[in-house]
Amino acid sequence: MCGIIGYIGKRSTKEILLDSLELLEYRGYDSAGIALFPGEADAPFVKKVAGRVSKLREITAGDTEEACAGIGHTRWATHGGVSDANAHPHNQGRVTLVHNGIIENYKELIKEYNLKDKLVSETDTEVAAAIMDHFYDGDAEKAIRSTISVLKGTFAFAVLFADQPGKIYAARNVSPIVVAMTEHGAMLASDVAALGVHAKEYAFLPEYHIACLSSKGIVVHDEKKHEVPLQLMTIDWDTSRGGKGGYAFYMEKEIHEQPDAIRDTIMPHIVDGRTTFTAEGIPHSLFRENQNIIVIACGTAMHAGLIGQQLFHTLANIHTDVAVASEFTYTNPVIKPGTLVIAVSQSGETIDTLEAIKYAKKRGAKVLSIVNVKGSTIADNSDYCIYTQAGPEIAVASTKAFTSQISIFYLLAIHTARLNGMLEPEEMKAYLDELMTVPDAIEEILEKKEFVKKMTNKFLHADNAFMIGRGLDYSLLLEGSLKLKEISYVHSEAYASGELKHGTIALITDGVPVVALVTQSLLASKEYSNIREVQSRGASMILITKESLYKDMNIPEDDTFILPEMSDMFMPFPAAVVMQLIAYYTSYTKGFDVDKPRNLAKVVTVE
Ligand code: G6P
Repeated sequence: MCGIIGYIGKRSTKEILLDSLELLEYRGYDSAGIALFPGEADAPFVKKVAGRVSKLREITAGDTEEACAGIGHTRWATHGGVSDANAHPHNQGRVTLVHNGIIENYKELIKEYNLKDKLVSETDTEVAAAIMDHFYDGDAEKAIRSTISVLKGTFAFAVLFADQPGKIYAARNVSPIVVAMTEHGAMLASDVAALGVHAKEYAFLPEYHIACLSSKGIVVHDEKKHEVPLQLMTIDWDTSRGGKGGYAFYMEKEIHEQPDAIRDTIMPHIVDGRTTFTAEGIPHSLFRENQNIIVIACGTAMHAGLIGQQLFHTLANIHTDVAVASEFTYTNPVIKPGTLVIAVSQSGETIDTLEAIKYAKKRGAKVLSIVNVKGSTIADNSDYCIYTQAGPEIAVASTKAFTSQISIFYLLAIHTARLNGMLEPEEMKAYLDELMTVPDAIEEILEKKEFVKKMTNKFLHADNAFMIGRGLDYSLLLEGSLKLKEISYVHSEAYASGELKHGTIALITDGVPVVALVTQSLLASKEYSNIREVQSRGASMILITKESLYKDMNIPEDDTFILPEMSDMFMPFPAAVVMQLIAYYTSYTKGFDVDKPRNLAKVVTVE
């Protein structure tokens, strides 16, 4: 986690750093700091503070705008609590640096290099700064190489050396760094999201390469010290999508962007009424030959995998497992010849997913990833990659990335079924036609968002909530429940309705809110009984269903959200949006910072 930024250029260094850090805050917001290098005569000076970038902005208000170089950091605390001292940048001797990652052997290094009395913070990062200073004899690259050769763990560093004004050095292992030349200067960042408004092209810094940014440009050396050209990629995200666009929070904006995100994601894969993934170079054999699929992912992306699992089962009759990426490596997963691993990740940087991919590949699996951020590490480490076209997702709670991910699963399941002769052309056409109506169905929900807002009154004073459903509804509620707890701090559990009576129903008492999602026709009558069971124990019900299933449910209209009528299989789309709105309005009405829930970060680069 953590976001890093560096800038050398003609504009106000301080402003560029602060603005970019705000865009990187989704990576962590425990503390923030910058180091500005005023010029030849003065060493870099550091300003840092526990709290958000807005606080850093306040404490740097009177400081110089100009600098020959600057670096900045927004932190998600790992080693050492949230304090001014533990905030980055860290300075030791002639070295000032910011770091994203974890140095696992920092305690051993403190002993080995006798650093105990030098350190003023509790961080692993300051140890790296001290070691770099120890190795520094005027040759920056040598000092960085010597330092990273003794580090174990993950890192992305941006470094200033006090006697090298106008230069920023950078190096990384696992944790990302992107670099870009803009019209006004050279930049580096953890993520292209921080560059979008300035740059049209960017490049990922390869692992263990060293970049030097100066007013002359960006020079990258590989491990053998040979200069290597930047592999430039175009920033094709519409930067006008940046900013909150008049919405109170990014999350609300991103919920509203879902019709476009889904349309942009699916349309390139539907050509002449058939599914296609030829642009990604994915051979048909990948879907024909595989005997089983394992989806690996974390958080919301894992929930997208759960929907995918049911689609592969239903449409293509392919055995599919879904594994939490952080557990996958440790559970001796069965990987047979022909196992296809599908990794799902919005950021493309989640370390647990990345490690699971590396493990699966070592065990002989082919890896196909579904990723939102172009050129990210997970995309790079996969055999094949399908990009979702959701555009930048800033709010920590994932919304448009989720529905874009599941839209790829619909396409993949239809595609696999087609290639294996399990779908008649008319059936495929009907599925694809209905998939293309999803954006309109979501628009319909968005028009009724005020009604959802009213329904959320039930959660405002609740400590606990439950969500019940069966089949696809249950999978979707796992995501709805995560949304609610992560941003509104209401403890929420999604339960397979039939399983409730095996323990959890003991927690249903007078007034406890229970959301029932009923969109699957064949399961509706069973769900009806489960609703009665919780109602008779005092549950305060919210029902989300479609008109054709509502009549039997016996729940007042005011407590019921009627979803647009679609076939059962496509109901996760509209249901997801209602669940997102429930979480959003609960958090919003409770007065929380919806986009930046406590303790969380959007990109999780620690195991
Ligand atoms: C974090 C984010 C979630 C996301 C998960 C996986 O927990 O807050 O929104 O689902 O990481 O991230 P990924 O980038 O791999 O999808």
